[in-house]
Amino acid sequence: MKLSLRIWRQPDADTKGQMVPYEIEGVSEDASFLEMLDVLNEHLIAEGKDPVAFDHDCREGICGACSLVIDGQPHGPQAATTTCQLHMRRYKDGDSIDIEPWRAGAFPVIKDLVVDRSAFDRIIQAGGYISAPTGTAPEAHSVPIPKQDADAAFNAAACIGCGACVAACPNGSGMLFMGAKVSHLSLMPQGQPERRTRVLGMVAEHDASGFGGCTNQGECAAACPKEIGLDVIGKLNRDFRKAAVRAA
Ligand code: SF4
Ligand code: FES
Repeated sequence: MKLSLRIWRQPDADTKGQMVPYEIEGVSEDASFLEMLDVLNEHLIAEGKDPVAFDHDCREGICGACSLVIDGQPHGPQAATTTCQLHMRRYKDGDSIDIEPWRAGAFPVIKDLVVDRSAFDRIIQAGGYISAPTGTAPEAHSVPIPKQDADAAFNAAACIGCGACVAACPNGSGMLFMGAKVSHLSLMPQGQPERRTRVLGMVAEHDASGFGGCTNQGECAAACPKEIGLDVIGKLNRDFRKAAVRAA
């Protein structure tokens, strides 16, 4: 395949960026989207040019590092798929593709397509530790948990912290991410002792980091590669309201 790319190039956070056109030929439909960028970078390096910086790690859809806005959609056109799991068979010869970084005030660009997502780490830190003893796995039936709670907690825990929800939200809100993190612990007995302090701390850090509020647009859930549902935002809001009333 021959493709026309337009890629956001920005040397650093303090320099204005711009879309730069590139032509690439011989792209295999079996290649992943990131492998296509690898090939582009090999050409750029061979020509003595600066390769395009982009984030990636596992390339298996589990780490949350990959983070490209492809033709205006975080993680690209395929539903429930991370950027690294998108393949070039989705495209056809002669296609034009725009590639940009996550766009959100709380995720400043570091270089090209790489953004600083440490605000998510700060939210997790602000939630604090759980006091339940960890260590070797306990006997499966020693802590009874209703199956529906176990399933809901497991689904919430599938969040990989990629930030696509923030990039998709017109408010740049991190509520879907935070809702997933709050829910997966608040549904479990082990998460109860610090339930109130955790939600208060996380919401305070979310707001201090410059994320916007939720106005029920639903774009976050539509962009989420792990299909985290909007119900976690409802759980987050309920937990926050209860904790705030008790703290008042
Ligand atoms: S909720 Fe979904 S989109 Fe948001 S950080 Fe988690 S996995 Fe990524
Ligand atoms: S590189 Fe790990 S999820 Fe995409």
